[in-house]
Amino acid sequence: MLKGSLKKLIAVSLVVGSMFTFAACGSKQEASNSGTQSQTMERIKKNGKLVLGTSADYPPYEFHKSVDGKDEIVGFDVEVAKQIAKDMGVKLEIKDMKFDGLLAALDQGNVDIVVAGMTPTEERKKNVDFSKVYYNAVQTVIVKASDKDKIKSIDDLKGKRVGVQKGAIQEEIAKKQMPNSEAVALGKISDLVLALKNNRVDAVIVELPVATSNVNANKDLVISGIKLQTEEAGSAVAIKKGSADVVSAIDKTLDKLIQDKSIDKYVTDATNSVEVK
Ligand code: ARG
Repeated sequence: MLKGSLKKLIAVSLVVGSMFTFAACGSKQEASNSGTQSQTMERIKKNGKLVLGTSADYPPYEFHKSVDGKDEIVGFDVEVAKQIAKDMGVKLEIKDMKFDGLLAALDQGNVDIVVAGMTPTEERKKNVDFSKVYYNAVQTVIVKASDKDKIKSIDDLKGKRVGVQKGAIQEEIAKKQMPNSEAVALGKISDLVLALKNNRVDAVIVELPVATSNVNANKDLVISGIKLQTEEAGSAVAIKKGSADVVSAIDKTLDKLIQDKSIDKYVTDATNSVEVK
């Protein structure tokens, strides 16, 4: 009898002991499959907020809009991020920065996630993890309305300047698909659009929803007939490596938003809410 309970006691303390060791390892590894939280998830829960990094120069994905006289960052990416925060039970805080600084901010822990129409390329996957793709777009070229008949093919852009966003996949696209043009990389899409209007570039490569929003807002611009090889242009959420629990929480929210067509609705609403000048 006594022997029996002693055995039990030893067995129980062994189990408890191994649980402690297990937990201790887990938190050091920062992995979530060991049953503990990743550092990113820990920070989100502890602060009660999800810090979103984005580059709000990309209507209808994310852009500035005056709402009741107050400047706000809106767009379908913001709606997606709101749902992610809601499902995590935390508030959403938005940090706006240049597109080419987003992944460094993620790495330094200045933001918890990046939602910025970011395409999950192999190159980026070396440094960060991505959720599933929640939206797909194709590449287009915008030109001045007055150039519409002059610039109809990649050949027509020979010797001309093509604007692209710094650090975006469009930089690569210009180099690969337009080797005879000069790629001009600027930090913000709004600066590229201005450069196009002021004849400092002859064309700008952007994803279709962004092209549509910008030509709607600028009557002197049009989407050209130029056909680019459609490259990967899906959007996914970027997360610091080693945060599998955050990735799976985000994927769960995205699954829901894709399935019930919420994302499609967010895209339509955001496109309609872009201010027309
Ligand atoms: N999809 C492109 C990329 O990942 C462009 C994204 C630009 N996003 C932005 N918010 N400006 O490189």
